[in-house]
Amino acid sequence: MNKPTFEIVAKTQFGLEEVLAAELKALGATDVELLTRAVRYRGDHALLYRSNLCLRSALKVLVPFESFYAHHEVQLYKRVRDIDWSRFLTPRHTLAIDATTHSEIFTHSHYVALKTKDAIVDQFRDRFGVRPSVDVETPDVRLNVHIHDKTVTLSLDSSGNTLDRRSYRLARTEAPMNEVLAAGIVMLSGWNGEDTLIDPMCGSGTIGIEAAMLAANIAPGKRREFGFEKWPDFDSELWQKTKDEAQQAERRFSGKIICSDLDPKAVEISEQNAKRAGVSRFMNFRQGDFFESEATTETGTLILNPPYGERLQPENDDDIVPYYKEIGNQLKRHYAGHKAWIISANMEALKHVGLRPTKKVKLYNGSLECRLQQYELFEGKKGEKKEEI
Ligand SMILES: C[S@@+](CC[C@H](N)C(=O)[O-])C[C@H]1O[C@@H](n2cnc3c(N)ncnc32)[C@H](O)[C@@H]1O
Repeated sequence: MNKPTFEIVAKTQFGLEEVLAAELKALGATDVELLTRAVRYRGDHALLYRSNLCLRSALKVLVPFESFYAHHEVQLYKRVRDIDWSRFLTPRHTLAIDATTHSEIFTHSHYVALKTKDAIVDQFRDRFGVRPSVDVETPDVRLNVHIHDKTVTLSLDSSGNTLDRRSYRLARTEAPMNEVLAAGIVMLSGWNGEDTLIDPMCGSGTIGIEAAMLAANIAPGKRREFGFEKWPDFDSELWQKTKDEAQQAERRFSGKIICSDLDPKAVEISEQNAKRAGVSRFMNFRQGDFFESEATTETGTLILNPPYGERLQPENDDDIVPYYKEIGNQLKRHYAGHKAWIISANMEALKHVGLRPTKKVKLYNGSLECRLQQYELFEGKKGEKKEEI
């Protein structure tokens, strides 16, 4: 018998919509539709649970359940109060509300969250004489209010904490990359799990760890909890089955993952994080200077997240431009036959890598707009081609 399906929206970062859609199709989603920083699809409860457990490039998985127009805050309050909230929670449950607004009428998302909360708790007080309390950190039910112009969409947030919190990273370096972005970059790079993957400026090791989890098909959410586990309709048997299936789908892979950094502390932190993620057996860690390194295999993929010259300065170099020039020279001289991807928020410095990018993707690292650029490093003359600037 077919299980009932419903609309689900997975949120992501700008630039990762297509990799997220591909992940969703592989998980069995139907009616997959790309939005900005999100993907809409249909699925049943099993897919909802699997989405949270297995998606690498999603930040949140939402279940929209109500949509209406509101022209002002009184209308918003009334429409929210008209919903039967006993479908989703009881006065004993705790509640949190996240709001995002893209609207000229509703300009303060915090105020929208407050009005929505008032409408819900007022309904409970009227009906039962008691009201659910607010817990912003670990609520039983987390709601999402999204307003675009006059259209209000209410969703249940099935994830709880954002999905980049895989809970393997306790130790942090100075500018760690978020796990969703790191996984997205590995998927965008097209690394197949068979070739060598090198992160020569690994910091806290996020790119290598996410690559190892991807290649070993380890569910990124296997060590954490999710919002839906506290819902009144939570199906613990289905959840156990979903987790068992994901565990059984784990595999070994043949590619090598090499992570290194100039800073010995970063290497130590990366190793600790990889152990916690259960992937250290797939990875090699070493301390070393990228500018003194060379390829140990004939082909492979490098992913570099160098300092941008804003949050971090390159070691032993005050000027970011010669540093990026040297990255290009190092790649040309010592990594012929490899593919290299560089992500940076410093567009000016990127121009000085001195190689022609074969792909460019706009992404964000936190609030910083970045480019992820691919370079194909050929033997001999072709690799010497200068970028026209
Ligand atoms: C932006 S951070 C990388 C963050 C990393 N992607 C993560 O997820 O934590 C840049 C890293 O490059 C390292 N680094 C800078 N110059 C280096 C060099 N010449 N060789 C190796 N590592 C270097 C720094 O120590 C720093 O850890």
